[in-house]
Order: sequence, then structure tokens, then C-alpha cells
Amino acid sequence: MTNPLSKKSKAWSARFSEPVSETVQKYTASVAFDKKLATYDIQASIAHAEMLQHKKIISSNDYKKIKNGLLKIKLEIEKEKFNWSIALEDVHLNIENRLIEIIGDAGKKLHTGRSRNDQIATDLRLYLRDEIDAIRLKLSFLRIEFIKKAEAHSNTVMPGFTHLQVAQPINFAHHLLAYESMFSRDDERLADARKRVNRMPLGSAAMAGTSFPIDRMRVAKTLNFDSLCENSLDAVSDRDFVIEVTSSLAIVMIHFSRLSEEIILWMSNNFNFITLSDKFCTGSSIMPQKKNPDVPELARGKSGRVIGSLVTLLTLMKSQPLAYNKDNQEDKEPLFDAVETVNNTLTIFIELIENMEPNTEEMRSAASKGYPTATDLADYLVKKNIPFREAHELVSKIVNYAIKSNLTLIEIPLTKLQKFSTLIQKDVYKFLELNGSINSRNHIGGTAKGQIHKQIKKIHKNILKTIHEIKRQKT
Ligand code: ARG
Repeated sequence: MTNPLSKKSKAWSARFSEPVSETVQKYTASVAFDKKLATYDIQASIAHAEMLQHKKIISSNDYKKIKNGLLKIKLEIEKEKFNWSIALEDVHLNIENRLIEIIGDAGKKLHTGRSRNDQIATDLRLYLRDEIDAIRLKLSFLRIEFIKKAEAHSNTVMPGFTHLQVAQPINFAHHLLAYESMFSRDDERLADARKRVNRMPLGSAAMAGTSFPIDRMRVAKTLNFDSLCENSLDAVSDRDFVIEVTSSLAIVMIHFSRLSEEIILWMSNNFNFITLSDKFCTGSSIMPQKKNPDVPELARGKSGRVIGSLVTLLTLMKSQPLAYNKDNQEDKEPLFDAVETVNNTLTIFIELIENMEPNTEEMRSAASKGYPTATDLADYLVKKNIPFREAHELVSKIVNYAIKSNLTLIEIPLTKLQKFSTLIQKDVYKFLELNGSINSRNHIGGTAKGQIHKQIKKIHKNILKTIHEIKRQKT
């Protein structure tokens, strides 16, 4: 029986006495997913061909034909008129085959001095460089939403938790800026990973380099790479940069999962700390009273996917001998999925944070329960020269008394407080009050309103600098 898939002969099939079976073709083909890299493949091919003609390895006439042919193919792909074929295995052979179809013999010269092994490593790096920039830009927009919301709520009291138990009163803004800190580290990590992404493997050919007098620096310059991968064996087999970026993306999703978890808790009736606009929620088909936080729940779930991608990639590389192995074809789907998931999650959370409003009364009332200013009372006594451990013990007794008498700390009369320590004076109440407690934590990193404003200014400057840097790098 003839195999309809093997009608097109592969670039490497001349030595083979029979065509590859259909099942093998299907199993080994990557075009279904690596066609995503087509424009990068074309960009790198044009740069390679330009260098070949500059070094007189091919004629300038052939180069012109190659370039025009590749640009034509690019248009066909953009207009979705390109006929992708599984029989041609991957993005590289599909494009090369079409080039030969269009321009004839000149097209057969493009592959001089290179291999699909350095080609795919180059395409992946070009792709990731763009995706890192796009994700960093979105991270900046998300961080802007956090500081906008924080600015609006630098006077909104909420309970701060440890062990999910009310601990100390804080500014809602302070809580929001904690997430901004996480996402700003994500940005730093991606910016750092980009340095190692932006090195060029092209010129390593299959693994040992090439006997043609190529000029790798020229190609790197055309493609805007910072430098070259300096060992050809490592260059074709290295996927550290894929792992590094995916690991940074997994951490981004860990942050989203933490934020999502809090939003889900805050939206529950028991907390009722925030209201999320209806467009981010769905109802239940059976329980009419329900408003479900689908978006944060999905983001929490999707964090598992990206962590899964990271584990896949680590496992893929573990114990791989040098140099290129076909195993590496398996790097694309987890990487693409991680990039896409983070991209989509960022897009939706930029809008979500903008549409999230705190229920300030509920938050304040939750903050006043659970004796959150007990530490402030202990600090007050320490300032009166009582050693901290003794102060801690004294305040424990006062809290016990308050619980028994069903009073908050601020409701205990001064005469009663003085029974525990005569050092307690009238001024104590301003430390027991929620805003007083918050604004007393007035140092770098503290929750006082003044610090929040300083912090917002600093972050704002940093975000503008980051956006400027990303735009400047953009190729
Ligand atoms: N599709 C391959 C990949 O994704 C491209 C490199 C193939 N090289 C080879 N010698 N089969 O890794």
C-alpha cells in the first residue's frame, strides 16, 4: 500500500532504501507545534545566507533569490496559505522544501554550513527573547495596577495574618505591595535569564562546527544576539536557557497561585474582604446565591501546568549525552504552553486587580478582632524599660483578662490596665488603636502610610525604567 504521507521525499532520505512508515512519520514529526517558530526560522535563514554571500560561499545572485523566496514564504505563512506537511517532519524542512520549489537550485544552497541542530537552537532563542520581552512588559503593567490600587488604599486597614490567624493590623496597600515585590523579582529573573538566552548557537552546525569559512559574529550582529555560544557541542545540545525561563515562569505562577488563593478566601462569605466585579465571576447552575471566583481558581490550577512543564524539561535534559539528541524536540510543547499560560494569566490579572475593590468596613472590623495590637502594648512597655520577655508575659495576662471580660484591648479602662503595670499611662490608647499601630511601623519595609507612599514612588520609577529598558532592547 502506498503511504500518502511519504510522497514528499525528505532532505535526508537519499540513503534510505524504503520510505519511513506512516506511524513513524507521525511519531517523529514536530511541524504541528514547531511551525510556531517559522518567522524566526526565516529570519535566521536570511541572516545565514547573507553571511554566506558576504564570505563568498554562495553567490550574491543566489543570496538574492534565497532572501526573496524566504520573504515570499513568510507572507504565505502569515496569510495562512502555506501548506504544512507532516511528511516534511519539521518547520525547517517544510520551509526549505518550499524554498526549493519556488527558487529551484539556489534554494538547495541555503543549508551550507549549518544543520537543523544549530538552526532549532537559534530559532528557540529568538522566539524566547521576544516572549521574555512581552511577558516583562505585561509584568510591568500588572505592577502598575498594584501600585494604583495601593495608592487608593494607603489608609485602608486590614488584618495581617500569620498561620492564617489575625496577627497585626496592616495597611491594605502594604499587602498589595507585597505582591508587587514578588512580581518585580519575577521581572528581574526574566531579565537575567534573557542574558543567557541572547547568545547565538548558529555556526555550530551539527555539533562540531563547519569547514566553511563562516563569520559567526556577522550573523549574530544581524540577528541582534549579544554574543556567541562558544562551544559547538554545548551550543546544539544546551537547553539550560529553556529550563531557566520556564523556572522563572513557574515562579510567576506560584505567585499567581498565592494571590489567587487569597482572592478566593477574601471573596468567601466568611471573610467578605473584597468584591470582584461580576465579569470575573460565574454563577452556579443549581445554587442561585453563588458567585464563584473562577478566574483565580483557574489560575491556581494552571500553576500546576507550568510547574509540570518545568519538571518535564528538567527530566528531558537529565542524563542526556552530548551532543544533540532527538529528545530535545520534546522541549517545545512544555515551553510554549508555559509561555502561553503565563501570558494569558498576566493579561487577565491586569484587569482583575483593577476590578477588585476592598470592603473596607469588613476589613477594619476583622482587623479589630483577635487582639492584633497586643504587640504594640508589649512594645509600649518595653519603651518604659520593661524587658521584652516580661512585657510579653504581662500582655498575655492582659489579653486573657480581655477575653474573659469580652473587651477589646482599647476598651479596657486605664485603672484596670494599671493593675497589671503602673507604668501604663493614658497615652497607651493611641498605640492600641489600629491606625496608630499601623503608622508606628514607620521604617523601610514597614506598613505605615508614609512608608507606603515612599515605596510607591520608588516602585513607579523602577517600573518606568524597566519599560524603557524593554523597549530599548526590542529588536
Ligand atoms: N525538530 C528538531 C527539534 O525540534 C530539529 C532538529 C532536528 N535535528 C535532527 N538531526 N534530527 O529538535
